[in-house]
Amino acid sequence: MVINMTYDNTTPITAKRYDEKINDTLPYYQEFYNQTLDVVEQCGFGKIDWLDLGGGTGSLEEQAFQKFSDIHFVFADPSEKMIEQAREKLQDASVQYICAGSTSVHFTEQFDVVTAIQSHYYMQEEEHKEATECVYHALKMDGIYINFENVIPEDGEIKKFELLRWGKYQQRHGKTEEEEKAHNARCGVNYFPLTVNQHIQLLKDVGFQKVHVFWYSYMQMGIYGVK
Ligand SMILES: C[S@@+](CC[C@H](N)C(=O)[O-])C[C@H]1O[C@@H](n2cnc3c(N)ncnc32)[C@H](O)[C@@H]1O
Repeated sequence: MVINMTYDNTTPITAKRYDEKINDTLPYYQEFYNQTLDVVEQCGFGKIDWLDLGGGTGSLEEQAFQKFSDIHFVFADPSEKMIEQAREKLQDASVQYICAGSTSVHFTEQFDVVTAIQSHYYMQEEEHKEATECVYHALKMDGIYINFENVIPEDGEIKKFELLRWGKYQQRHGKTEEEEKAHNARCGVNYFPLTVNQHIQLLKDVGFQKVHVFWYSYMQMGIYGVK
């Protein structure tokens, strides 16, 4: 994992400016949260023990607290600056903070929900698998893992096409051509997206009984696995 010191976390945005800038980078970003909360609601847990990995600035927690009355969050992220932002946003809410990447977060059958929203593609394949094994271990039986990720098309031509399309989105949202090119040059260098099929296989290999892709747009997907 590479933490770029200019940016204080692995994304090309400083923690302080993350909330303001993320919508310019990720199409439908708010919808990732809407879909995640909707899936959790459908699960019908009463009290929810929830582990959020790579939680960033704590926006998911903020919205989850508005929707569900009885949640306890464990929030993990390897960036201290991101955690600072999350603490500021969440103030006195019921959250335990851990400053660590997902392969260092070890729990046993403690959580109903584990989420990793746009945070696991920073790991290369082996480390990514290890992180997913930690997730599986941390979940209670019948618990759910909800994961949003950047994904890469299998076909090289489609990959180029989709990177250009995503780049156009970023330019429409205020990025310069240089910023957009720099962002796309990070693919496979600073972050390591898998294909949809690799994601499905990864969750199955780790042991999830049921796996389902429930969202796809541009080069992002939402997938869940039930333990
Ligand atoms: C694009 S942000 C996503 C943050 C948040 N989940 C959201 O939805 O906005 C990526 C986050 O992943 C974190 N991250 C980077 N490497 C990680 C790792 N190995 N394990 C867990 N989180 C990681 C970064 O510190 C950053 O907060």
